[in-house]
Amino acid sequence: MKKKLLALFTIVALILGFQGFTALAKNNQSQKESSQPIAVQGAMDMEISALLKKMGEYKEETHGSYTFYRGKINGIPVIVSRTEVGMVHAAASTTLLIEKYHPKAIINQGTAGGHDPKLHVFDTVIGTEVMNIGRFITDHRDDGEGMKPESWKFDGTGMRENGELKTYETFKSDPKLVKAALSVADKYKHGKVVKGKVGSADVWNREVDRIQWFHEKAGTSVEEMEAASVGQVSKSYDVPYLSIRTVSNSEVSGDKIEDLETAGKYGAEFSVEIVKAIGKK
Ligand code: 5AD
Repeated sequence: MKKKLLALFTIVALILGFQGFTALAKNNQSQKESSQPIAVQGAMDMEISALLKKMGEYKEETHGSYTFYRGKINGIPVIVSRTEVGMVHAAASTTLLIEKYHPKAIINQGTAGGHDPKLHVFDTVIGTEVMNIGRFITDHRDDGEGMKPESWKFDGTGMRENGELKTYETFKSDPKLVKAALSVADKYKHGKVVKGKVGSADVWNREVDRIQWFHEKAGTSVEEMEAASVGQVSKSYDVPYLSIRTVSNSEVSGDKIEDLETAGKYGAEFSVEIVKAIGKK
């Protein structure tokens, strides 16, 4: 009888201990998540200055040639990252961002050139997916046969997952972050907010035929120089990612405006609203 009681007592103690342990682990996990910052990136000062203004006080830290600003927006821990312009800078600074600051989400935002003729300067695109439009393979052509860019074929990006290479044509933004951005779309007062596909490369296209080719072949809404790099590195580390781009110029909409400064400010201000929406949860 005594032995049975002892065994019963041991089982109950083990169950209670296990429950206590999982509750503690859950608590630790949610504490960790609430102290992890939301990262907001911009390539240029004009794309991050509205965020720094909103933070007010922040700590500036530099790794390599990349600058990070640690602070809070409405009590939410935020890290603003100036990636600098271009794909390599974006990849390098995103790797540092993740390794050094362990963000719970990364918002890559800034200016962009319109590919969709329906998009006007200061409209904003919530990039549901991002694509490296500078990655393609050409057919063979003999000496003197010239170049035929319109025949080039896009090439996917290989990512190693559990030892296996998997090819990605695009990288998707995190659906919960897309939802958070859509939930504050009505706060954006400078144009429309639409979902779309963001194309990235170290190229600024001004040839209308080439822009139309990208729009038709790749289905891009806008082009810029960082999003696909950030999406790729975020995927590699499994960090939730969101692309947001405000149109600053377009060769295909009829707008005769090229205003990166204003678009950069509007985009960063909208990102503040998205941070608040994500931080609420
Ligand atoms: N093409 C490429 N990049 C653009 N940018 C704004 N408009 C364009 C465009 N039409 C953004 C890039 C880069 C900087 C030059 O501005 O993302 O950071």
